[in-house]
Amino acid sequence: MTRPAVLIARAIFPQTLARLREHLEVDDNQADVILTPAQLRERLQGKQGALTTASERIDAGLLSACPQLRIVANMAVGFNNFDVPAMSAAGVLATNTPDVLTETTADFGFALLMATARRISESEHYLRSGQWTRWTYDMFAGAEVHGSTLGIIGMGRIGQGIARRAAHGFGMRVLYHNRSRLAPELEAACGAQYADKADLLREADHVMLVLPYSAQSHHTIGAPELALMKPSATLVNIARGGIVDDAALAQALAERRIAAAGLDVFEGEPAVHPDLLRVPNVVLTPHIASATLRTRLAMADLAADNLIAHLLHGRALNPVNPEVLA
Ligand code: 8YV
Repeated sequence: MTRPAVLIARAIFPQTLARLREHLEVDDNQADVILTPAQLRERLQGKQGALTTASERIDAGLLSACPQLRIVANMAVGFNNFDVPAMSAAGVLATNTPDVLTETTADFGFALLMATARRISESEHYLRSGQWTRWTYDMFAGAEVHGSTLGIIGMGRIGQGIARRAAHGFGMRVLYHNRSRLAPELEAACGAQYADKADLLREADHVMLVLPYSAQSHHTIGAPELALMKPSATLVNIARGGIVDDAALAQALAERRIAAAGLDVFEGEPAVHPDLLRVPNVVLTPHIASATLRTRLAMADLAADNLIAHLLHGRALNPVNPEVLA
């Protein structure tokens, strides 16, 4: 019997590739060339499965050109690179990698919050550029983290991880806003209380964005929302580019209408809005919130497991569109 064929769209861990090769015919991309949409279609010809990352878009046009495709396994918990209704209509299973990255990503959210509030990047640039000639009483005086109010927008698994760290580790008051309210037991375990979005923005000393990107969440934070925040507040985005209006944020930072921001994701990344590169009060990282070796390996392995489970056994571990299986 011929084995199902899969494309691994980007470079991944050699051990994950080796495991995939035990079960499937594998076309890899260890040179890590970013495939154009046309190249992706071409490489997917005759493939039943694909392992993708956020850089590969799976839409109706691609699906109609690849009728043999049965599953696309994203090596990410977010899947805004998938047109899920189009995948369901084409009978193509979409999977993601939840859970394995939750705590690692929550750690990073907290790291970015701390770096932003305590001005770590800005002060390091100052030191490295030789400007540190004497200590002064207010140099790089930032905002308090412990005991302050954190507002979390998007209260899924990662948001809850951040809430637990904030409430139980740093004695923070935690407000959250989400499409649906958590069960009372879960709210209590997270030490978090539900708030209207405008109230959260007005009251929070630090705002953390952890919600999935969709047409509905596009520019969740733009000029009107930034205007509601305290001038002393910080904003952290570890969710997706496009959730924040980066141009409006750069302007608010330049005019000190909010104190600082920490951004791991950007509209149109890897391009970064040039105005963000000009303002000092922003910490910028290149989409690394899940980047520990252990977690990235777990993500790659889980994406691989989804391919193997579906193509060999008709099952799915993390289906995004389970209706395809029915
Ligand atoms: C990924 C992420 O590294 O899981 C997600 O949604 O944003 C990151 O953990 C990135 O999307 C690459 O696929």
